[in-house]
Amino acid sequence: MRQAGRYLPEYRELRANAGSFLKLCYNPDLASRVTLQPIERFGFDAAILFSDILVIPDALGQKVDFVENEGPVLDPIVDRNGIEKLKREHVLDHLAPVFETVRQVRSGLDANTALIGFCGAPWTVATYMVGGRGSPDQAAARGFAYRDREAFDTLIDLLVDVSLDYLCAQVDAGAQVLQIFDSWAGNLPEDEYARWCVEPVKKLVAGLKARVPGVPVIGFPRAVGPLYADFVEKTGVDGVSCDTSLPLSYIRDVLQPRAAVQGNLDPLLLVSGGDALARRVDEILEALSGGPFIFNLGHGIVPQTPPDHVAELVRRVRG
Ligand code: CP3
Repeated sequence: MRQAGRYLPEYRELRANAGSFLKLCYNPDLASRVTLQPIERFGFDAAILFSDILVIPDALGQKVDFVENEGPVLDPIVDRNGIEKLKREHVLDHLAPVFETVRQVRSGLDANTALIGFCGAPWTVATYMVGGRGSPDQAAARGFAYRDREAFDTLIDLLVDVSLDYLCAQVDAGAQVLQIFDSWAGNLPEDEYARWCVEPVKKLVAGLKARVPGVPVIGFPRAVGPLYADFVEKTGVDGVSCDTSLPLSYIRDVLQPRAAVQGNLDPLLLVSGGDALARRVDEILEALSGGPFIFNLGHGIVPQTPPDHVAELVRRVRG
């Protein structure tokens, strides 16, 4: 959940010298150093590759920018012509620096620290490709999907195909676990959710099980509430990342018998720290330590997080 990033002074320094955010993602020497920064500082059990879910649209030839204080900005796809213009031939060549980063990180980690590779789920990536930026309701993508289902289907299928190749290449380079981020799964009616979130992730997982058997896959259908169990069952993921709003009793009783669970500390508690943080960490540990469990946040760490609070969190969990 963005263990590297702007809350770390060593990241900010390196980022300031890298030029753009995408240049940082495509520079294996710098990206591997950024990946290792939080491991060196905190000694986590796993590192997550430093990259972004939006390198896929970039590799498909869509214009992608990361604008200071604004986030990602893409040249939006407004109709089926925009989808037809995407170029899939050079995706893996374009992403070769990411695979080199994976190789460098793997050789810089000790054998007991796992390396997690990742991609965005097709729906979440499509919301940025169609909307051109993040939005609270993903209205542009939802509207497109209602207006021209066939064209939207083509886009989602393309994203399944290239994401599968992308994840397999990460494994070939040294990634040992994969996570699929569907951060915007939570705003769809259930039939649309089944079509645009569950089906594509199910295809991705099936492809991974066939091509890189034995590599665990973690899904993150953020904010789908009671549909979390359905997601685990239908997609066949080995692990499920739980968002902050999911009740611990639901995670323990419904999800944990079916998959390893990961989560779900509120990233904002990590900003405020103190007793409230300690109490919640203990509650999570108490509820979930009886089964397969990866302690984590319920969503990405925020830039205001004091690194000392992260260190305190690690001490408490280890203790
Ligand atoms: O966790 C890690 O350390 C690995 C790196 C990672 C990043 N993004 C780096 C990043 C991962 C796993 C992601 C995933 C990602 N990217 C998601 C899915 C997970 C989630 O958080 O919901 C999404 C939706 C994106 C798209 C994206 N990238 C957004 C919306 C933003 C802007 C948000 C912000 O905080 O500014 C980014 C930028 C981004 N990706 C940053 C980092 C460290 C901050 C950019 C910077 O350094 O200026």
